[in-house]
Amino acid sequence: MSSAPLALLVCLFLLDLDQFSGSSIGSRSILREVPSNGVGAVEYALELNATNFDAILSDSPASFSLVEFFAHWCPACRNYKPQYEKVARLFNGPAAVHPGIILMTRVDCALKINNKLCDRFSVSHYPMLFWGRPSKFVGVIWEPNKEKSEISMIDDGKTAERLLNWINKQIGSSYGLDDENFDNEHFPSNISEHEQIGRAVYDVEEATSTAFDIIIEHKMIRSKTRASFKKFLQLLVAHHPSRRCRMGSAEVLVNFDDLYPPEALSVDKSEIVGSDQKDSVGNIQICGKEVPRGYWMFCRGSKNDTLRFQLRIVGSPPFSICQSR
Ligand SMILES: *[C@@H]1O[C@H](CO)[C@@H](O)[C@H](O)[C@H]1NC(C)=O
Ligand SMILES: *[C@@H]1O[C@H](CO)[C@@H](O)[C@H](O)[C@H]1NC(C)=O
Ligand SMILES: *[C@@H]1O[C@H](CO)[C@@H](O)[C@H](O)[C@H]1NC(C)=O
Repeated sequence: MSSAPLALLVCLFLLDLDQFSGSSIGSRSILREVPSNGVGAVEYALELNATNFDAILSDSPASFSLVEFFAHWCPACRNYKPQYEKVARLFNGPAAVHPGIILMTRVDCALKINNKLCDRFSVSHYPMLFWGRPSKFVGVIWEPNKEKSEISMIDDGKTAERLLNWINKQIGSSYGLDDENFDNEHFPSNISEHEQIGRAVYDVEEATSTAFDIIIEHKMIRSKTRASFKKFLQLLVAHHPSRRCRMGSAEVLVNFDDLYPPEALSVDKSEIVGSDQKDSVGNIQICGKEVPRGYWMFCRGSKNDTLRFQLRIVGSPPFSICQSR
């Protein structure tokens, strides 16, 4: 870790000048966090320390992790916090819009207990952000000029917009800061975040399988819909929160031309071919064979106002899965 004066210097250097103008360091306007809802700021990013860092990251079901190294005394870090939280809101917490994909964390390098941990990442300024698969953070030693590392330093995450942009580029996603979810303020609040994410992913897996069954049952793959269905599969392969569904859709995609030969799906013959659809894909399950069916974790013990899953597939009536009564 660098000596304190050097760290302070770099930290000042990182301050956004426009946010800084007119105030001196230490003035309330810089240091105070203004809660957006006026009630009290909810923290979405998970604060880790040397004691739990490796364990939490190695156990995380998320595909990626972001770690912010900061120091609680650093004004630039306090300034940055709401920006980081704006992004964390999307991925962490019981009401995350995109749960289970990215675990957003922070480590306070000003705490003595974390000295070695921050050294492991050659933390040279605050805030300093890293990206990688959660398990790759475990035990890693990161150095700025190391040729190949599975952990990357994020060089352009100064604002929430830029950070999300960086993430989108990295994983080919198109998340937006305004992404909203529906209805899920009624999730039970006494179960842990990880548990909730796990349950939500089970439900999404099940919903995906059910949707696929409906598509097959209603013979919706025709020559006209073939191309868009393929695009849909590509989307699932890249972005589905469940690994099983990503792999299952990849399998369908790879075998797609065999399962649905274009010539066999011509409009005239759609009736005949349609009847084959069920047979040809009878053995393919879009989320693999192990997806537990019939659970609907979030329906269990649900109250009347619990989240309801509703599948809307063009051409078929809306299909409610999680009926509250
Ligand atoms: C590390 O974090 C855990 C979980 O937040 C906390 O219980 C523990 O007290 C922390 N350890 C230290 C030394 O601060
Ligand atoms: C949450 O609360 C419900 C009832 O209020 C209880 O049955 C359940 O065991 C609790 N779950 C946990 C993990 O504490
Ligand atoms: C759920 O709705 C039914 C019918 O609307 C009502 O009779 C019942 O009391 C409600 N239960 C709860 C827990 O609100």
